Amino acid sequence: MRHHWLLLGACGWVLLILMFASKFINFHSRAADDYGEKVELPSWTDPGTKIKKSDLEHPPDRPAAKPSEQPSLEPSAVDLFDWHSVAVSRLEQLSAVCKNATLRNLTHVSLNKFVLDRIFVCDKHKILFCQTPKVGNTQWKKVLIVLNGGFPSVEDIPENLVHDHEKNGLPRLSSLSQKEITERLGSYFKFFIVRDPFERLISAFKDKFVKNPRFEPWYKHDIAPAIIRKYRKSHRDDGKAGTGLRFEDFIRYLGDDAGRRRVDRQFGEHIIHWVTYAELCAPCDIEYSVVGHHETLERDAPYILKAAGIDRLVSYPSIPPGITRYNRTKVEHYFSGISQRDVRRLYSRYQGDFRLFGYPSPDFLLN
Ligand SMILES: *[C@@H]1O[C@H](CO)[C@@H](O)[C@H](O)[C@H]1NC(C)=O
Ligand SMILES: *[C@@H]1O[C@H](CO)[C@@H](O)[C@H](O)[C@H]1NC(C)=O
Ligand SMILES: *[C@@H]1O[C@H](CO)[C@@H](O)[C@H](O)[C@H]1NC(C)=O
Repeated sequence: MRHHWLLLGACGWVLLILMFASKFINFHSRAADDYGEKVELPSWTDPGTKIKKSDLEHPPDRPAAKPSEQPSLEPSAVDLFDWHSVAVSRLEQLSAVCKNATLRNLTHVSLNKFVLDRIFVCDKHKILFCQTPKVGNTQWKKVLIVLNGGFPSVEDIPENLVHDHEKNGLPRLSSLSQKEITERLGSYFKFFIVRDPFERLISAFKDKFVKNPRFEPWYKHDIAPAIIRKYRKSHRDDGKAGTGLRFEDFIRYLGDDAGRRRVDRQFGEHIIHWVTYAELCAPCDIEYSVVGHHETLERDAPYILKAAGIDRLVSYPSIPPGITRYNRTKVEHYFSGISQRDVRRLYSRYQGDFRLFGYPSPDFLLN
């Protein structure tokens, strides 16, 4: 009896190891497929496990894919199929959190002009893309500009044209009539990308206040002083070198909902770099087809192209290795000087985003 069990156990291990090994092999073949030209793959994996493109389920509001002209052995199909279940479970999580009444005012927003301004339209392929900052959205915009027919390939688009919405041929949803908007929201493929909410804030802070890109001097010269005036605890060391906005000032500002609104009002509308994803894209009020995660962009990008039915027309630009990975050390480092009270306040404001997109609450900062 004991022998049987041992044997069974051993078989289990062998199976697990095999499964692991096959994942590993798949991963590598896929990487080549994603970042370079289409590569023909040797057929060393079991053809029995291959899944045809048409077997991939499509989001409910998409017409089924046309039968593929390609041979049915798609190298990355198994992988994409795996990812489909990840994408579906994310949508389930999203919809469950949207129903949570306690979180309602952090998750539901009205479909106002601010939201419609964030969403870009590709009519030719029936795609809507909600732009969120610091997650590689420029690349997605390039993809859509190519699809809209403005340029033959992503590399041909001049950098300064990407954000010039007069000229790049990528209209915003807000530029259409109410009827046109409703039609598109009801039938197009819709997606956006998110990342860990706190890491996102660090990224915004660095980008807008530390690196201070010369295109946006406003952050450093107007917004930073307003935040410092209101939230810096001690003004004694003002006037010395390096008195720019500190991360702790920034966090206090973000966590103070009413005060932040007053500061923001001086500068017009919401500042897109730190309003919540819920406020940017209204994920509980628009039925998105896919919500990608920056941390897994290497897998989400090809999945999105496939799910949107455009994977044969365009590819996502190559992703520099490591840049999408969540870095807890960095988060700990930035938050190390922040009081627990301020972290909690911040978390209560961004809690909706953590929950909606399944990011674990940052207990290592909260407790
Ligand atoms: C709703 O959200 C609150 C606050 O995060 C949480 O405590 C509660 O468990 C959630 N309810 C459900 C049904 O998930
Ligand atoms: C959400 O609602 C609760 C109680 O209904 C309130 O205490 C909280 O301040 C609200 N949060 C926001 C961001 O409006
Ligand atoms: C994570 O962040 C820390 C601190 O900013 C940095 O030193 C480290 O190189 C980062 N790690 C990775 C893997 O990028």
